[in-house]
Amino acid sequence: MNRRLEVPSAAVDEAFREHVLAGLAQRPRRLAPKYFYDGRGAALFEAICRSPEYYVTRVEKALLAALAPELVAFTGRHRVLVEPGSGSGEKVRLLADLLQPAVYVPVDLSPHYVSAAESGLARHCPWLPIRPICADFTQLTRLALPPGRRLVFFPGSTIGNLEPEEAAAFLAGLAVCAGPGGGLLIGVDLKKDRAVLEAAYNDAGGVTAAFNRNLLVRINRELGADFDPHAFDHHAFYDEARGRVEMHLVARTAQSVWCDGERFRFAAGETIHTENSYKYTVAEFEALAVRGGWRPRQVWCDPARLFSVHYLDVA
Ligand code: AVJ
Repeated sequence: MNRRLEVPSAAVDEAFREHVLAGLAQRPRRLAPKYFYDGRGAALFEAICRSPEYYVTRVEKALLAALAPELVAFTGRHRVLVEPGSGSGEKVRLLADLLQPAVYVPVDLSPHYVSAAESGLARHCPWLPIRPICADFTQLTRLALPPGRRLVFFPGSTIGNLEPEEAAAFLAGLAVCAGPGGGLLIGVDLKKDRAVLEAAYNDAGGVTAAFNRNLLVRINRELGADFDPHAFDHHAFYDEARGRVEMHLVARTAQSVWCDGERFRFAAGETIHTENSYKYTVAEFEALAVRGGWRPRQVWCDPARLFSVHYLDVA
């Protein structure tokens, strides 16, 4: 197999360090969700996806399996299939047999994920050429992609981590990346009942809480900080006006933490904002995509309207 794995690991670590120091110094304090996915974080995310409350993955997988034959009617076969933020690359298996991609290009910041995607697919779809790229998916337009008609696959409602304005700009970048005749298959979590959303981000098994706290564990390990992860509470809630679920780590008591030679003082109740997960109606998402140069062609939703998968092409 022809493989080229780009792993700019020193650069990633430096970016993480700068991000953490700046984010902890800021008010309100903020850390970006893209840093959740170290080895342990990736495993915890997979456990979230198996939790009964987190419907996102289960519903999307059922939709993908069912829509694949219809999708092929739009895209044909032998596309260059690009997946930004590919994670474990598990969902592409639901499409690959029907789509018969010419090549699969998973793009993920985590080298752990990129190699997992590669080995999992090598086993399940041994006929599929894989060209993994280790990079931040927002840098997609700067990457050299194999030639051919493109299909961008962006499942999991990862788009929800971006601010709506960033999402619009990102979608416009995806249209450039997809190019003339290109397509986009994207999973978008829908606005819904607060109770359903809040349960999904507060699973009874405490997996989401562990996933959130693991960011502090990672900072301790990689930056030599001395966070006590259990001195912070997991707090996740739906802000209906903003249409987003927010996740925070809330200091249980006043405390101070050393991180990379700097001291950070937390008041009791002070929070670190770790994630936004925006939810959209079908119409809201389509309006965002249209602004980015996409033409909506089809949308699939489950009967309970928990989740949507959209197919769009370059207008
Ligand atoms: C991977 C960003 C789509 O926002 O639902 C799951 C991450 N965070 N539980 C989401 C997540 C907490 C997830 N995304």
